[in-house]
Amino acid sequence: MKTIFEKSNGVDGIGVCDVELSGQCIPSELLRDGNIGLPQLSELEVMRHYKELSDRNFCIEKGFYPLGSCTMKYNPKVNELLASLEGFCNLHPMQNDEDSQGALELMYNLQEALKEITGMDEVTLQPAAGAHGELTGMMIVKKYFELKGESNRKKVIVPDSAHGTNPASAKMCGFEIVEVKSNDRGQVDIEALRELLDSDVAAIMMTNPNTLGIFEERVLEISKLMHDNGSLLYYDGANFNAIMGWTNPALMGFDVVHLNLHKTFSTPHGGGGPGAGPVCVREYLKEFLPSPVIKKEGDKYYRDYNLKHSIGKVRSFYGNFGVLVRAYAYILMMGDNLKLASADAVLNANYIKEKLKGVYDLPYDEPCMHEFVLSGEKQHQQGVSTLGIAKRLMDSNCHPPTVYFPLIVHEAIMIEPTESESKEVLDGFIDTMLKIASEIEENPEEVLKSPQKTPIKKVDETLAARHPDLTFKE
Ligand SMILES: Cc1ncc(COP(=O)(O)O)c(C=O)c1O
Repeated sequence: MKTIFEKSNGVDGIGVCDVELSGQCIPSELLRDGNIGLPQLSELEVMRHYKELSDRNFCIEKGFYPLGSCTMKYNPKVNELLASLEGFCNLHPMQNDEDSQGALELMYNLQEALKEITGMDEVTLQPAAGAHGELTGMMIVKKYFELKGESNRKKVIVPDSAHGTNPASAKMCGFEIVEVKSNDRGQVDIEALRELLDSDVAAIMMTNPNTLGIFEERVLEISKLMHDNGSLLYYDGANFNAIMGWTNPALMGFDVVHLNLHKTFSTPHGGGGPGAGPVCVREYLKEFLPSPVIKKEGDKYYRDYNLKHSIGKVRSFYGNFGVLVRAYAYILMMGDNLKLASADAVLNANYIKEKLKGVYDLPYDEPCMHEFVLSGEKQHQQGVSTLGIAKRLMDSNCHPPTVYFPLIVHEAIMIEPTESESKEVLDGFIDTMLKIASEIEENPEEVLKSPQKTPIKKVDETLAARHPDLTFKE
């Protein structure tokens, strides 16, 4: 049989040994008899190609990344080192408990740490992202009411500032979504909430601080109202970086919580990489968690599959194990300094807010938590929308903030600096934002030419949205 790895130009990037296959085991019509046309490139050329592609990416190691609601904090390299230890990365998920004690111990300890940080009573590490955690949590809420004989509870209340995944997750579980308004201080309007309550309400989904970066001061009143109505409270932990060690969702009265390990606990995210959205619950919801939960008896760790009312598995095996190792490494490394990280994240956000307000509109002029939302309305009227400001920032080695979210702010610019950055970086960003505002006043046409320094310059957004070209053609 002819080898299928013939070289056309003699360049050899990989060593593949010639394989003599017996023709008998492969049907003759499937046998290839010609060169398969693999690219003829040397290892060096391949490396240059991928390096060039990775250089085009913007990442936190390259510049400031104030992407609101995403907590793009620095991911310490020690996390990577620990996750690549052979015992962790070569362990097969089907290995038995006896031979996986180290991994199970790590998962158990992480569960315990998350319990302490959230104040909740039990944890599943299975969900693979925040939105997946929301879905898991809402499945638990649904089953809880079904078993209580209250299947009539079909409504889930969601504030108008909520992240889109909240109503989407509840809807996927079959709930009907009811929106509650924010008041003029950017917090849930309690009077409006009171009017929405009836015996069909299953839960409210909230994040605190909310997506405006404002702490819901009346959260205890809200939780009392909900519980008095026989309803539950779901805590979206995407904004947890603001409160670590200062308060927790159990103290605020929440029943179910998800955390985004890939935000608060410094594991990589963006670009569709694996994440982790553990769900933590109060005592009375323990038996509803997806199984297995990692337990300990004496000095042995084991996977407990016997949860009485489990909603079943929500992911293969036990979640994104490598991400769990990284998050645990971060928690151990930080210890009590987690509290300081939140304090610094809040301080950094308030510092930028105070320097930019006035030049940019600040619709909710309140002390903020780890992020805040400006409006580019004034600049829009001068000829450059928020999108134009975001593109201009890209020419200053800065990732744009989150834009046009939350929906209740016109021309929203949502800035989250995180605790990772120095004062010099924050000052550099402030100067750039102020410069862009004066450029817009003087010469909006020039600003609209950005981005000019990125690998791909200004794109035709309408064409891209209406006629996306999703295939690769030479
Ligand atoms: C407030 C809020 N909730 C939920 C999510 C969903 O999290 P994930 O992207 O991990 O699915 C996000 C993500 O940005 C968020 O900002």
